[in-house]
Amino acid sequence: MKYFINTYGCQMNVHESEKLAGILEDLGYSLADSDQVADVVVFNTCAIRESAEQKIFGNIGMLKQAKKQNPNMIIAVCGCMSQQKGYAELIVKKYPYVDIIFGTHNIARFKDFLNKRNKQKRVIEIVETEDISCRDNMKVARTSGVNAWVNITYGCNNFCTYCIVPYVRGREVSRPAADIIGEVEELLKQGYKQITLLGQNVNSYGNDILDDNVNFANLLQSLDNLPYKYRLRFMTSHPKDLSLKVLEVMAGSKNICHYLHLPVQSGSDFILKAMNRKYTVDKYLNLIETARKMMPDIQFSSDLIVGFPGETEDDFNKTLELVKKVRYQQLFTFIYSKRKGTVAETMDNQVDIKIKKQRLSKLIELEKGIATEISQSYIGKTVEVLVEGKHPKKQGYLMGSCDFGKTISFKGDDKLLGSFAYCLIEKANHTTLFGSITKIIQSSETEYNLPTNKIRRK
Ligand code: SAH
Ligand code: SF4
Ligand code: F3S
Repeated sequence: MKYFINTYGCQMNVHESEKLAGILEDLGYSLADSDQVADVVVFNTCAIRESAEQKIFGNIGMLKQAKKQNPNMIIAVCGCMSQQKGYAELIVKKYPYVDIIFGTHNIARFKDFLNKRNKQKRVIEIVETEDISCRDNMKVARTSGVNAWVNITYGCNNFCTYCIVPYVRGREVSRPAADIIGEVEELLKQGYKQITLLGQNVNSYGNDILDDNVNFANLLQSLDNLPYKYRLRFMTSHPKDLSLKVLEVMAGSKNICHYLHLPVQSGSDFILKAMNRKYTVDKYLNLIETARKMMPDIQFSSDLIVGFPGETEDDFNKTLELVKKVRYQQLFTFIYSKRKGTVAETMDNQVDIKIKKQRLSKLIELEKGIATEISQSYIGKTVEVLVEGKHPKKQGYLMGSCDFGKTISFKGDDKLLGSFAYCLIEKANHTTLFGSITKIIQSSETEYNLPTNKIRRK
């Protein structure tokens, strides 16, 4: 019996697909080459923008023939899109051959849903909240080589006016620190070299726990103290909650990467206020300056939205100015997309799609130049690389990442996977550095389960 999972959206979803794969592998399923030939197909969906939803609907539609040929095929749809009000009904209406629909709060019950489906035509279970402990005890079929993802919070309390996440993921809940530290320690014991902590806003970790000592800075400090050489990353940091203490822990750490994904969303105070982001451009720039003073080698990335309702040419120019000031190593840029039930959905002054597209290309062009200059500033320098995998196209080449987040490509033997090495940078473009290994710092004995298409993100 074979399974296949189509994953959409953020890293949180990729990690949850690893948990769903854990359930299926426990039941004896193995990975199929494609969804067309699988016995169980899962769509783990995203609702962040309309384009994500359109892609998912198209992909479910493409299974119609396969299901006709193999009527025993089970198709399950879960994740953020299913969790939205009215969507289960919509999915069934459009695609009557879907067998199971569940939401974001009950993935641990997937096995029950499969059993139930044996006895009835269709299973639909969407609930509003659930005890997170049932998710935390789930087996994870990890698929990402030297990388492992660890949840620290679920949900979001921020209600940025454009965003669907608080509606589909519920209120923020922090995992107990001891569980997180235990999981990370176990992963390091197993040989994982890069741990990424996941939360919609990692900086508010612990706000829902009464003990004042439970906060993100202390969590980072405890994890940094573990007696292993590894890389510790986290996402996402909300600028309104990034504390000086977190920056201090980062600056003084052995293992925490000098890299911050710090989404700013807009460079205009007027738009930031309308977005309910709760910081100003000045406050944001101060944070960047403080972090740079404490860690001169730090690099930043950000998410930016163009065409939020009411965004004028002047507001957009302020965004360009901010990007020029901060000089991000990487930018994730989005065209504002109306989401049902959010505050911004009904705002006046929605921006014309033509203008949104023009603004997006201007922003992308500006960023490409900046990212190229930043990359090229490393030419002739030696950086520490973590060897993460084989080059997808060039035989005999490997890929890795720098502490500050850039991807590096270099020649090397597969045996180097999981090693830390020094790499001399010889060439660079906006996304990638190219170099040669000069010295191995620490090699790894672990055999890695390299990324497969098991959890293929679309
Ligand atoms: N919790 C994270 C990430 C949330 S989703 C954070 O606060 O940064 C990732 C990104 O998608 C957001 O940062 C935002 O830039 C973008 N996004 C969210 N809702 C959107 C919408 N309705 N239209 C366009 N982009 C959106
Ligand atoms: Fe969405 Fe804002 Fe929460 Fe991020 S912080 S998930 S953008 S509501
Ligand atoms: Fe992630 Fe998309 Fe949900 S970005 S939290 S999968 S809406």
